[in-house]
Amino acid sequence: MSKPTLVTGGSGYIGALLVKELQEAGREVRVLDSLLHGQEDIALEQENNGVEVVRGDVRDAQARTRALAGAEAVVHLAAIVGDPACALDPKVSDDVNVQATRALVADSNAAGVERLVFASTCSNYGRMADPTVPITEEGELAPVSLYAEQKVGMEQLILASANGADANGTQPTCLRFATVYGVGRRMRFDLTVNEFTRELWADRELEVFGEQFWRPYIHVRDAARAVRTVLEAPAEKVAGKVFNAGRSGENYRKLDLVEEISKQIPTGKVSYVQRNEDPRDYKVSFDKIRAELGFETLMTVPDGIGEIIAALKAEQFGDPFDGRYRNIP
Ligand SMILES: NC(=O)c1ccc[n+]([C@@H]2O[C@H](COP(=O)([O-])OP(=O)(O)OC[C@H]3O[C@@H](n4cnc5c(N)ncnc54)[C@H](O)[C@@H]3O)[C@@H](O)[C@H]2O)c1
Repeated sequence: MSKPTLVTGGSGYIGALLVKELQEAGREVRVLDSLLHGQEDIALEQENNGVEVVRGDVRDAQARTRALAGAEAVVHLAAIVGDPACALDPKVSDDVNVQATRALVADSNAAGVERLVFASTCSNYGRMADPTVPITEEGELAPVSLYAEQKVGMEQLILASANGADANGTQPTCLRFATVYGVGRRMRFDLTVNEFTRELWADRELEVFGEQFWRPYIHVRDAARAVRTVLEAPAEKVAGKVFNAGRSGENYRKLDLVEEISKQIPTGKVSYVQRNEDPRDYKVSFDKIRAELGFETLMTVPDGIGEIIAALKAEQFGDPFDGRYRNIP
């Protein structure tokens, strides 16, 4: 039997589609997930599809040991995800996003794991001085939330482990994902494209603040494909490196998103409001992942909007306003 690839947070929004993608690539896949958002149905489905699901917490040393046993590679997605969720309970966020990540990296080294892909975020760029010039991986990081500060800190720790004394240990790669959108097995409606589309589809008045702010976007299946690309790349091309994951042509202002959704839902009502929250404003270059790994996204935001509308019409989510579709109460 081949050695498994461990996906922490593998029953989540990106995770559930990544698990499928990796299985299709012929990998044996193991998941470590605490099913924080009640995804027992997803875990069962994964088990029926031949995935070993360790129902456990990444903070728990025994669960980590079990999940890491014999693993060839680790994709670390498990986290308290997003600015509002982290702000809600900074202690839990520190325990999961910082302490448990540190422990997982150490345990991966000790267990002889060859590669580790860390799910980082373009939120690390925060508020750019000039958001009209796309920022590259070498650009200044200016996190404006606890969530992004923790991701920046973990990137530094993880990359230092690659260059340190145990350079023969686990080889890490950090993927800074653009904001994700699109229909997932565990749907999230607390992400901009998904939320805006749902609100306008449901004929609710959409309130938008910071409409001029730039942000890059990536479809959830493309996010999964980016991870697969890294895992399949020769080690010397990815070890100890950071890649933005997305597509340079897919940076949008919130205003542009509303315009794209309005093309497909012309009746939507939108009001623009002033609010002093979430000052993230960044435009990102994705040339490196394309040039060095040949990674190209397949989906665009307008495609994703169409897909979400079709799923809403088909009542795929039951009640799309149900609390399980967001990471904050
Ligand atoms: N969705 C985005 O726009 C986006 C953008 C950039 C980076 N990311 C990163 O990608 C990763 C996955 O995000 P997502 O959008 O799939 O979110 P998600 O909340 O759907 O996935 C997180 C998963 O981790 C699990 N989890 C949470 N705490 C855990 C714990 N203590 N132990 C074990 N499992 C735990 C959850 O049950 C869930 O399945 C995260 O690390 C996130 O920071 C996401």
